[in-house]
Amino acid sequence: MTTSPTQIQIIQPDDWHLHIRDGEVMKDVLADTARQFARAIIMPNLKPPVTTVELAKAYRARIQSQLKILGADHFTPLMTLYLTDNTSADEVRKAKAEGITAFKLYPAGATTNSDAGVSNLKCCYSALEAMQEVGMPLLVHGEVTDSEIDIFDREAVFIDKVLDPVRKDFPALKMVFEHITTSQAAHYVRDANTGEKHTLAATITPQHLLMNRNAIFTGGIRPHHYCLPVLKREEHRLALLEVATSGNPRFFLGTDSAPHSKAAKETSCGCAGCYSAFNALGLYAEAFESVGKLDKLEGFASFFGPDFYSLPRNTQKITLLKQAQSIPHELPLGDATIVPLRAGETIAWSLA
Ligand code: DOR
Ligand code: ZN
Repeated sequence: MTTSPTQIQIIQPDDWHLHIRDGEVMKDVLADTARQFARAIIMPNLKPPVTTVELAKAYRARIQSQLKILGADHFTPLMTLYLTDNTSADEVRKAKAEGITAFKLYPAGATTNSDAGVSNLKCCYSALEAMQEVGMPLLVHGEVTDSEIDIFDREAVFIDKVLDPVRKDFPALKMVFEHITTSQAAHYVRDANTGEKHTLAATITPQHLLMNRNAIFTGGIRPHHYCLPVLKREEHRLALLEVATSGNPRFFLGTDSAPHSKAAKETSCGCAGCYSAFNALGLYAEAFESVGKLDKLEGFASFFGPDFYSLPRNTQKITLLKQAQSIPHELPLGDATIVPLRAGETIAWSLA
């Protein structure tokens, strides 16, 4: 990579955690991601969820035809399946054979469209066994759903109650702890003994690197800063920034960009999700620059993800310029609009 105070050239990044939905919404959000990234892991929490290989193949075909219309067929969607209590070992083997990239674990009730998620991970043990055997990664929404657990503690409790026991039961299962938000998660992943093989990694979003929980309440309630897992205290943000910019290959880019219409966010019970896709790379560059670590951006954004998934690194390059980009107040979203992260403000870096 080359960096100067005003320009960075890096291998093109991938987004290892992305929501694009379907239909009219997908049409409007896909271009933002395809402009910046070469590949993305496509989350399966549609309504109904993508629980089978057949559904994932049909979803992939819809994405590909939209990419063609956009003239963006250089972009590769990497498909995932939604794990349920009923996912069979056979479906896992079939998924592997058909080029599905990973399975996603949503604890039932944890977040958007997770009702069909897993009620008890023990129900999935034959599927996890098969994943471990065939080398299929399990991507984890790492929060317990018990309403008695404080929302700010749900990730840390998940580590003790779910993640650590599963890792002991399936030591060779590749897992990605998605969108981590706490120092406990950052340190658990950093310090995990994974033997010789690299079996545990984590993705980190731009909003968790740039904001703490005050951002949800600055001068009033800020629904566009509400996502799950929810933003945490400053000490947690600093711990995430530290591991993300450390050059440790266990941590890589996953935006969790999650489109919801303006109306669905600005209401009495608003949806969780930040739409960061509009200039996600600019947001990450700002975060890395804030601690003088722009030289570590390329590993985080472009190398460690494909290395973990055993996929080839991209070869083409992109350039980011230190040129402030104004972010629109709203963008079109099907027959509605969406408010992107930083709406009405600027982002210091933008794609050349
Ligand atoms: O904030 C979030 N939004 N977190 C998730 O886990 C899901 C996502 C969505 O799909 O809207
Ligand atoms: Zn997500």
